[in-house]
Amino acid sequence: MASKIHKICCVGAGYVGGPTMAMIANKCPDIRIDVVDINEKRIAEWNSEILPIYEPGLSDLVAEARGRNLFFSTETERAIREADIIFISVNTPTKTYGQGAHRAADLRYVESVSRTIAENAEEPKIVVEKSTIPVRTAEAIRAVFDASETQHHHEVLSNPEFLAEGTAISDLESPDRILIGGEQTPGGLEAINQLADIYNRWIPEERIIKTNLWSSELSKLVANAFLAQRVSSINSISALCEKTGADVDEVAKAIGADSRIGPKFLNASIGFGGSCFEKDILNLVYLCEHFGLPEAAQYWESVLQMNDWQKQRFADQIVDSFFNTITDKVISILGFAFKKDTNDTRKSPAIDVCKRLLEEKATLLIYDPKVEPTKIYDALETDEENSNVVICSDPNQTFEKAQAIVVLTEWDEFKDIDYEAAHQAMQKPAWIFDGRNVLDHKKLTGIGFKVRSIGKPNEA
Ligand code: UDX
Ligand code: ADP
Repeated sequence: MASKIHKICCVGAGYVGGPTMAMIANKCPDIRIDVVDINEKRIAEWNSEILPIYEPGLSDLVAEARGRNLFFSTETERAIREADIIFISVNTPTKTYGQGAHRAADLRYVESVSRTIAENAEEPKIVVEKSTIPVRTAEAIRAVFDASETQHHHEVLSNPEFLAEGTAISDLESPDRILIGGEQTPGGLEAINQLADIYNRWIPEERIIKTNLWSSELSKLVANAFLAQRVSSINSISALCEKTGADVDEVAKAIGADSRIGPKFLNASIGFGGSCFEKDILNLVYLCEHFGLPEAAQYWESVLQMNDWQKQRFADQIVDSFFNTITDKVISILGFAFKKDTNDTRKSPAIDVCKRLLEEKATLLIYDPKVEPTKIYDALETDEENSNVVICSDPNQTFEKAQAIVVLTEWDEFKDIDYEAAHQAMQKPAWIFDGRNVLDHKKLTGIGFKVRSIGKPNEA
């Protein structure tokens, strides 16, 4: 079937909108894609050599399509008017005020875009929710459309994005599935098929799942809640391993070999971060409470409690190792992003761990290969005037007179550091706290380090 889509507008040029549209532009060179954002600086960066987000493979993808059929601008109204289909990819933070505070998603950006669409669309459009949104957002969007003067009947679809940061390009190239939810009316089903036709250019039909709106919206929350639950589950076991002498990696391997459990997402860590997991679970908790299901709400809330406990447990372990006194001690922090291969620090567990160490008045020498210093200062609610937070451009600068190395992100390059030289530069006894279990602990112990890791019997 020939596609009826010639022009796409994506509102929101962030971690979701940018890479997703770059992939569609690449796979559909005949479709013009306008990615628009209110943030002029961000748009200028998308139009420059250094993109606003770091994602392996992204700059090549953008370079190929930009100026051909992929355009970044702040011309939201024009792009909306011209588009056949509009993706809403704006941020949906957790509400910080009023009803549902600290639980429900703040939909003000989604509503604002919906109003702009209502005011500028001169004919019926297909409007796609791409942002992570709470269930029934489509209803909120439709309410805005219904209240508008033009009253065009725009079809609202839910098409949640499942890409993970750091692997976004391969996730977009070959997703496990594409989920499209829409109204089960002739118009709704036609809109679902039109969106499916775009994906079908490179994704086999059997991987495109079509559902009603609410199933699609809820599935996104549930997928993230299940993934986060897996991390909290293995992290709870890591604590038990440390007490019993079992090794959490061996346990993960043993249970992951059961095909019903599977081997993925079983890496014990200092805790999960990222913009989605906490927000989506809070949303799920809010929904359960709203619908009078406090037991279900409590069940999912415990996934977050376990995550907070894991971060705190790790930080406590560092402080305890120095007999509760790390005042004025220098600590090397390796990694600040919430996972490797991204410059994103949203909800990074590194933030909580560093804040705890700063509370104890330690001096932190922080190195991350991709996170800009301003983002680190902002996340720690401080600035370069604070002599207790020093951002380094080379990991070796962090070891000078340090008492401990703390690994908070699993960047591959941390495996290749010359730890003999690091040990020499450090104060003795020199400690390593491997919050991601990525280093060769036997070798480090051999060099003379005291090593603590997650869910492992303590070495030396
Ligand atoms: C997640 C979902 O995976 C993705 O489908 C959704 O679209 C957005 O949310 P993302 O947050 O980018 O993606 O990264 P993910 O790889 O899921 O990792 C989330 C956090 O869990 C990271 O902090 C990571 O370090 C941690 N994690 C993950 C673990 O601690 N252990 C694991 O085994 C896996
Ligand atoms: P995500 O991880 O969901 O992509 P980001 O915060 O990275 O979230 O990106 C969301 C983008 O949406 C931001 O660049 C923000 O400026 C943009 N945005 C928010 N509201 C609007 C709006 N009304 N019009 C255009 N862009 C918007």
